Amino acid sequence: MSAQHPVVFVTRRLPEAVEARLTRDYTPVLNADDTPFGSADLVERVVNAGAEAVLCCPTDKMTADVIAGMPNKVRALATFSVGYDHIDLEAAKAHDLIVTNTPDVLTDATADCAMLLILAAARRAWAAESMLRRGDWSNWAPTGQIGIQVTGKRLGIFGMGRIGQALAKRARGFDMEIHYSDLAQLPPELEAGATFHADPEDLLGVSDVLSLHCPLTDETRHFLDARRIALMIDGAIVVNTARGPIVDDEALIVALRTGKLAAAGLDVFDGEPKVNPGYLELENTTLFPHIGSATKETRDAMGFVALDNLDAVFGGRTPPNRVV
Ligand code: DGY
Repeated sequence: MSAQHPVVFVTRRLPEAVEARLTRDYTPVLNADDTPFGSADLVERVVNAGAEAVLCCPTDKMTADVIAGMPNKVRALATFSVGYDHIDLEAAKAHDLIVTNTPDVLTDATADCAMLLILAAARRAWAAESMLRRGDWSNWAPTGQIGIQVTGKRLGIFGMGRIGQALAKRARGFDMEIHYSDLAQLPPELEAGATFHADPEDLLGVSDVLSLHCPLTDETRHFLDARRIALMIDGAIVVNTARGPIVDDEALIVALRTGKLAAAGLDVFDGEPKVNPGYLELENTTLFPHIGSATKETRDAMGFVALDNLDAVFGGRTPPNRVV
């Protein structure tokens, strides 16, 4: 980096090692108390900071208005996430703003989290542990806390990208049969014996466990609604580590309440950090606060990838993970 370190406005606190590299190579303007900014506040702070780049997170709504408010000297928006549904890409393009993300490095952590939710949902982990913690475990019972065994069950993966494939690999270790749906069929070496369903609705009809791994787009918003839930196998399990709005919460809650579906494991929520209270009342839900990528190794790596992208922008190179 040159002697004049570019000013980077950073919307949230980042892992220590990432902030150390930022401070070494840039002039960062950090968000000391880590509270997400509202749109107007964010624009004002970026302007006042004299920022040349913004390092943002999925908690920042980078709408057309926010992007339009960015001074021209802001060259790049590097998101600390693989997902970029919080960024209006058309507005960024129109504003000549380079947008980058952090793919690959969070694949394993997120797939681990999906597997954890599959097992937790199937084995009633939350209900069983809560009973123990409440002091209500009176004795071992042949009929107590009976869950569903995943061995031999069909796992339907909606969105067979990097994370979907990594989940398939894990689930094969549990002897699950893999089915998937995506825009196109994978080549045999990546499919690794999984069964492709060109129509996602066919996937619903065969999945004992359905795990969502597609990006949030206009097409996938409320993909899992009441009509599609009706197509699912009775007593199936739903897992979502992708984005909350892919699911119609009211429809899923009704299906979990009535027993149409056996259980759900959710790491992401429509409108998070608010969670539909209907989920909280149910014993057959396992609910995580969007921790899919939350390991030290992964969060450090995400920060370093975001910085690699900025290094490329300010070094006059094409960023390795340019989205637009
Ligand atoms: C992402 O990167 O998009 C995740 O949701 C946060 O890890």
